[in-house]
Amino acid sequence: MQYKTFAIIGATGQQGGAIVRHLAKSYPDARIRALTRSPDKPNARALLSLGPNVSLVQASFSDRQSLVEAFADAEVVFLVTDYWNTQNSAISPNLNTEITDGMTAIEVAARSKSLRHFVFGTLLDFAPLSDMKWRNMYHFNTKAVLNHYIRAKPDLWAKTTLVFSPIYYENYLTFDQKFYPMLGGPRKVGDEYVAWYPDGGTSNLSYLSIEDLGKVFGAIIEQPQNYFQKMAVAIGEFFSAQDLIKQWADVVGVKAKIETLSSEEFTDRVGRLGGLEFMALEIYEQMRCLEELGDLRTIQTEIQTIDMSQVVELTSWRQWVAAQDWTEFFHFVS
Ligand SMILES: NC(=O)c1ccc[n+]([C@@H]2O[C@H](COP(=O)([O-])OP(=O)(O)OC[C@H]3O[C@@H](n4cnc5c(N)ncnc54)[C@H](OP(=O)(O)O)[C@@H]3O)[C@@H](O)[C@H]2O)c1
Repeated sequence: MQYKTFAIIGATGQQGGAIVRHLAKSYPDARIRALTRSPDKPNARALLSLGPNVSLVQASFSDRQSLVEAFADAEVVFLVTDYWNTQNSAISPNLNTEITDGMTAIEVAARSKSLRHFVFGTLLDFAPLSDMKWRNMYHFNTKAVLNHYIRAKPDLWAKTTLVFSPIYYENYLTFDQKFYPMLGGPRKVGDEYVAWYPDGGTSNLSYLSIEDLGKVFGAIIEQPQNYFQKMAVAIGEFFSAQDLIKQWADVVGVKAKIETLSSEEFTDRVGRLGGLEFMALEIYEQMRCLEELGDLRTIQTEIQTIDMSQVVELTSWRQWVAAQDWTEFFHFVS
């Protein structure tokens, strides 16, 4: 591996955290800067126990100079931007914060003298891929703007890799918004768990254990020249919600089924569980769009894509479910 110093944005989160854990374990000689707004918080301090090669650096998108200092001497920068946590007090979708945050980091990266590889954990641009049929997926639209912003800077784009992660398996355990796992709320009816989904749940769509992003990132930095100006597509499973629930029930040893909801019923259910209408709409559209676009490992876009399941072994849903402790989850949904 040809790089020594890494600056990882979102290190206390799921994407950046997976990368820090992989780097700390696989490259003891690398210098890994874990960026966070709050180095004193327990989730940040926990990163220090990964190894002496991990350091915490205080930085925020809202403080450009902190990014300049955090990126200094770094040969590789990983960027992830945060959509969901910027919606906290929103009554309508807030696209501006994520776009501004990402643009700031991109501008600082573009001016870095040391940067050799810029990796952005992003999404495919679904609205045009669906001929603008699904256009309310705001967390996709924001990232599409940022993908374009990078490409508008040819020197930066020449050393950039975009990485597409689909729906995380981890959402089923960690997503704060109770409605997302589609098992949220009091969903046990008799001895059966009832998942809810905005159609029959029979079409296939893409999922990933986001912890595998570490391995994906590792493969990219091992062979950088194969990945510049490309989008690495990381998909662990391409299957239906029916298959997902069936396998989950099978592995954890319970009975479960899917309750099919119309788009109106879906929005209503999300609302009753505390989700805002625009969030229900974008989650609904995301599910339908993912289903309609089909197998994203082979999708054709204006940016060349690489199917990372051909490069690294990605965890199956069944493996991931078997490795989790579901105690708290059962407490929550029963
Ligand atoms: N959930 C899914 O299924 C899924 C699938 C694909 C893509 N995504 C995308 O993934 C993105 C979120 O990534 P994640 O899942 O890794 O998030 P996460 O686990 O919620 O972590 C968010 C990270 O962003 C950092 N952060 C937030 N605001 C910041 C700021 N102003 N300055 C610097 N750092 C900031 C936080 O760091 P500190 O708090 O330590 O400062 C934290 O490490 C979203 O944009 C979402 O659209 C999600």
